[in-house]
Formats: sequence, C-alpha cells, structure tokens
Amino acid sequence: QKPLKLGIAGLGTVGAGVVRLLQTNAQSVTHRAGRPIEIIAISAKNRDKNRGIDLSHIQWYDNPLDLAADPNIDIIVELIGGANGIAHELVYAALNANKGVVTANKALIALHGNDLAKLAEQKKLPLLFEAAVAGGIPVIKTIKEALTADRLKRIGGILNGTCNYILTAMAKTGCQFDEILKETQELGYAEADPSTDIDGFDAAHKLAILASLGFGHTINFKDVFVEGIRGINPCDLHYAQELGYVIKLVGMAQQHKDNRIELRVHPALLPNDAPLARVNGVTNAVFTEGEFSGRLMLEGAGAGEGPTSTAVSADIIDLARGNTIPMWGTDWNGLTPATVIPQSEF
Ligand code: HSE
Repeated sequence: QKPLKLGIAGLGTVGAGVVRLLQTNAQSVTHRAGRPIEIIAISAKNRDKNRGIDLSHIQWYDNPLDLAADPNIDIIVELIGGANGIAHELVYAALNANKGVVTANKALIALHGNDLAKLAEQKKLPLLFEAAVAGGIPVIKTIKEALTADRLKRIGGILNGTCNYILTAMAKTGCQFDEILKETQELGYAEADPSTDIDGFDAAHKLAILASLGFGHTINFKDVFVEGIRGINPCDLHYAQELGYVIKLVGMAQQHKDNRIELRVHPALLPNDAPLARVNGVTNAVFTEGEFSGRLMLEGAGAGEGPTSTAVSADIIDLARGNTIPMWGTDWNGLTPATVIPQSEF
C-alpha cells in the first residue's frame, strides 16, 4: 500500500507527542489506517533538544514553509500554534500547494476557519482539526459523525482546563488566583500567554468552532461575548458554596427559534447537582443538545501530550483511510444565514 507521507511543523508537547505515538503504535496504526503513515519531514525551532523521539531518518527544515514546498509530502500537520504569523502562512501555503492539513490550532481555526475552509473546499482538500477543541475529547467527530443527522440547539461546556483548575483549587484551598495560576503553568496546561486562558479567549475560540460545526453557519469570532475569571476571588467561591453553587467558566452557544445564535463565555453559578458542576481540575466537558439526539455530555482531558496527540493522530488516520468529510459550517443547512445576537442584548 502507498504510504501517507507527513510533514510536521512544530515539536512542542503536541508535536513530539504525535511523533512518539505514531512511532510507538506504528504497527496498529498501519493496520487501522490501511497503509503505512510515514513522517518524512519536520520543521521546529530547536533541532538538538532531546525530546526522547527518534528523528534520525527524518528530513529537517529550519523554515516551516519549506514543508509546503516539498513535493514528496502529502499532508502538513501544523502544530506551531497562534492565529497569525507562520502557522497561518503555512496552512495557506500547504492548501495552495494541494496538500491536506491537520492542525490542533484553535485560534487559527476560530479566527480564519471560514476562509481556510473555503479554500480547502475549492481545492477539494481536507482540513481537519479534532485536537483544536477540548484536546482528547472527540467532540468534532461526535458532531460531524455521530450527530450529523440531527439539528443541534445548544453546544457548550467547560472548555478551558486552566480556568477550571484555578476555580477548583481556589474553592478548595482559598488560595489566591496568582498563586494557582503559577501551578497550572508548571503543569503545562496554560497557553504561552496565560491571559488567553484567564480572559476567556481560549474557551471562546473553541466555542466559535463548535458553533460553526454544530449549527452549520459561519460564525465570526468577534461575535462571541467573552468574560474571563480575573474578577473571581476565593470569597465569591466560598459564598457560592454556602448557597449550594459552584462557579465555573462556561461557554454556551444556543440556536434560538428565530434563527438567531447566542454565543457567550463567562463565569456562571451552577447548582451543585448540575452535570457540569462536578467537572473539576483541568478536565473539560462538552455537552450538546439536539432536537432528536437529546442531551449528551463528553468529559475528559482537554490538553496534554497523550490526549491531544491521540486526537491529531486520529485525523491523520482518517486522511490515510480517505475519510475526509467536509465539515465547516458554511451555511450548509439551507436556512437563511443565522444572525448572531449582539452582545448588548445579553
Ligand atoms: N490552555 C488550554 C486549556 C489548553 O487550559 O484548556 C488546551 O486548549
């Protein structure tokens, strides 16, 4: 069988994890993909860093854009991150060079998904991003495959592990925000710039992606109402507890009957017996509510090497199998394009 040849850009936690997973499970991955998957080229910042993976037979490029220009590569796996700059350039260059793309980059897809999906669609190329939302939770596949026959009314959940860890730990220990933020950074969950987490933007990126897919409409990221957790202190959590509530950073996308969509991320009081209330620590949870499927909740690791590289590798295997269902919500559902409820109405 003809191998699927990959070029990987970025060897951070996720990039190194994908190499490790594909090398460790090469035999079963080949079997399940129906053909071998070969990493033939890599581009990352530091070639000499010891990541505990074998890079000896892999072509190295200092410039990630060289991956897009390499005619031997079938698929680019973009794991650099960031909405703009080199990650954005690389994905455009890859699609323009007729290569499919797998990415874990939520900011890129939330901000440029509409344009990238249009380009991929025009060129009949796959653009897959399971790992962009809630790491190891297979929520994109759930929406795209398991729930595809249904019309969703609500999608949301706890979409940022860093904030959930901080709120859980503040409630438990009474410690202050800054002290706990340091811990999450040490755990490797917080983004390079942790204000992306704390101010709610990371959760909002994920929510915009879920809403685009789940509702079948193009969603503009700027339409999401976003409020983070900087204003929450241990006293708030303590009083909430006394009243039988917890405080969580919740993302919620809701399709109203008048075809308007509401998108918001903010701290919310949840009664102790609500399903999302018991989701603690770095865990993420995503729920959907559909007209036919009813309510569904998926819970698991929203970040980390193992879970995220499993999600990236699943996309790669899908491409090897030829399973490349187009999935961006470019108003495919046949309705008048939805309007997003302006933030002033919340
Ligand atoms: N910084 C993110 C989080 C990582 O804390 O959930 C995964 O997107």
